[in-house]
Amino acid sequence: MNNLRILILAAGKGTRMKSKKAKVLHAVGGSSLVSHVVRAATPVVGNGLLVVVGHQSEQVKALLPGLEFVEQKEQLGTGHALMCAREALAGFSGDLLVLPGDVPLISTETIQAFLDFHRNGKFQASVLTADVGDPHGYGRIVRRNNNEIGGIVEHRDASPEVLKIHEINSSIYVFHTPALFDALTRVRNENAQKEYYLTDVIGILSSEGKKVGAWKVPHADEILGINTRQELAATDHLMRRRKCDVLMTSGVTIIDPASTFIDAEVQIGADTVIYPSVQIYGPSIIGEDVTIQSFCRISNARIEARSTLLEGSIVVDSSIGSDVSVGPFAHFRMGTRLEDTVKVGNFVEIKKSTLGRGTKSMHLAYMGDATIGKNVNIGAGVITVNYDGINKNPTTIDDDAFIGSDSQLIAPVHVGKGGFVAAGSTITEDVPSESLAIGRGRQVNKENRAPHRKKKNGI
Ligand code: UD1
Ligand code: CA
Repeated sequence: MNNLRILILAAGKGTRMKSKKAKVLHAVGGSSLVSHVVRAATPVVGNGLLVVVGHQSEQVKALLPGLEFVEQKEQLGTGHALMCAREALAGFSGDLLVLPGDVPLISTETIQAFLDFHRNGKFQASVLTADVGDPHGYGRIVRRNNNEIGGIVEHRDASPEVLKIHEINSSIYVFHTPALFDALTRVRNENAQKEYYLTDVIGILSSEGKKVGAWKVPHADEILGINTRQELAATDHLMRRRKCDVLMTSGVTIIDPASTFIDAEVQIGADTVIYPSVQIYGPSIIGEDVTIQSFCRISNARIEARSTLLEGSIVVDSSIGSDVSVGPFAHFRMGTRLEDTVKVGNFVEIKKSTLGRGTKSMHLAYMGDATIGKNVNIGAGVITVNYDGINKNPTTIDDDAFIGSDSQLIAPVHVGKGGFVAAGSTITEDVPSESLAIGRGRQVNKENRAPHRKKKNGI
């Protein structure tokens, strides 16, 4: 980490994305493009990272707390971005490693190996290159007769001869910092885009007889730069496929990796089975022997061992204990907690509530702002009426209570331990423990009134 700074270029708009959002803010594998680059660079440089921001700089900075930033107010090219960093790097005479903010597949190992190449070769500047099948859009590496690097020519400025070159510029460089800032004073914007190109520094240093190195990356897909929505989708696909591979290697069954979306930071235990078309996002943690059936969406959630999520269940910002059964079509959100062995069935929504061990709610219910104890039975169609139009009010149901089907609990309300609410009740007052509460109109049977309907309809 000695005598090294890493600078990430993240000021550009990304015109080809046709987006209101700056390119580096677009996400692949669950994180923004620039976050992936920061994650890969940090182990190499420690806290020596510097990020050039410009377009939507506030949003980019908010995404990367604790880093040092340089403002590039007008985006006049990659060379201009470096000119803007001159002040921040004043007095620094070590190596400056430059990374574009749009290469999310770059790895720490490759960055480190490239830096070692630069240092071992005692170069003034080095560029990371790659041989690619389709070099369209990239800057081309032009070598002299003796194979030394002569310069980089942008696609738009290239002659038909140069366009035939398949060795491309990755936009990843290491510079001896004083040599870089000296050469930048000679960069002009006389090119197709009227921009100050960082690529020109390589040509300038080379023509001045400085030692310039070029290192071909072993895995060319690591340096894929994302410029279009198509490239965004292709990279996202690649990352998710890699995540599935890592999980399968560690013992997770993924029935159809092609339709499975799992973010990079998700952890899953061995012998868990993931059915087709499942999405697991954010820092979710899933234990061993869990079953997740098709069309479930899990986001920022924790699911402990041996639990089962049947089809179409959604779990957001919530946690589920072990041996729990959920769904099909259940929806949990906002800090819901299901303790071990809970059973929740079809079409049950639970918001900001806790269900104690062994509690059951099998059909068509809503629980919001509720604290529910152990071994409680919640009947079909039960609703905690938590919102009075102004406030969200709490419902508390103690252990062993029984809430009959189609009852409404008008919060704030408390059902004591072992309390029993008769089916079809509207409960507006607390129910003491071990008591039976009936809150409904009494049934009236009127004899012989049924034929009346038949007469009227001529039956
Ligand atoms: C650049 C290289 C090209 C290389 C390609 C690799 C130049 C002139 N060209 O082209 O040789 O093959 O990357 O992907 O450098 N940025 C700024 N400020 C600016 C302009 C850009 O910070 O004024 C940032 C962008 O946010 C982006 C990075 O620099 O993260 C690269 O910019 P981009 O416009 O994508 O460059 P390319 O045209 O792809
Ligand atoms: Ca690019």
